[in-house]
Amino acid sequence: MDASTRRDVTVVDHPMVQHKLTIMRDKATSTASFRRLLREIAALLTYEATRDLELTTTTIETPLATMEAPTLAGKKLVFASILRAGNGLLEGMLDLVPAARVAHVGLYRDPETLQPVEYYFKAPEDLHERVVIAVDPMLATANSAIAAIRGLKERGAKDIRFVCLLAAPEGVERFRAAHPDVPVVTAAIDSHLNDHGYILPGLGDAGDRMYGTK
Ligand code: PRP
Ligand code: URA
Repeated sequence: MDASTRRDVTVVDHPMVQHKLTIMRDKATSTASFRRLLREIAALLTYEATRDLELTTTTIETPLATMEAPTLAGKKLVFASILRAGNGLLEGMLDLVPAARVAHVGLYRDPETLQPVEYYFKAPEDLHERVVIAVDPMLATANSAIAAIRGLKERGAKDIRFVCLLAAPEGVERFRAAHPDVPVVTAAIDSHLNDHGYILPGLGDAGDRMYGTK
């Protein structure tokens, strides 16, 4: 990302994003609606996270003329989904960028220690040549996101962005301290974490609401 245009933390305050997020927060919202809204918001957040991608030009023939037209430069993007809730965002991101490559980072948060436990990691081998956008709806303590980004860096990723739906101020601070080179795009930064590491007011457990597991 070009350092001159980069914002370290971007809150996407677009009215469509905020309206959809409010419906998602409501505990009366159904699993089906929650999933659909997450997919829709994901495309809008990705639009913001990819705003500064480099362009090159290619020669094309329109029906009327030859032109040098803008096209994305470099290799295809990698979307790195932090399982399992990341997959809800991933769907919407792939709607916007169907040719993107996908990495899966399997992590769950131990409910007692709040520490991430890794159970799976699969990513394209040439991460060092690609822009990587890591995704997880929730940035709470940031333990999961910090570990996921560390894993991506260990496997070569250099140009990484992190997209989430909701963040806690504590999580943003910890994430920025651990990975100051990774910009964050989110739809909202909420009030604080509760004693169990849940974001308040938040929306509850994103994975459970998405998959109806509670
Ligand atoms: C949730 C969420 C994040 C993590 C955020 O995942 O999707 O990955 O918690 O919390 P943190 O910032 O404190 O690490 P969870 O562990 O519940 O797993 P799941 O996605 O499989 O439901
Ligand atoms: N994970 C979630 O799904 N929700 C929170 O509020 C915190 C962590």
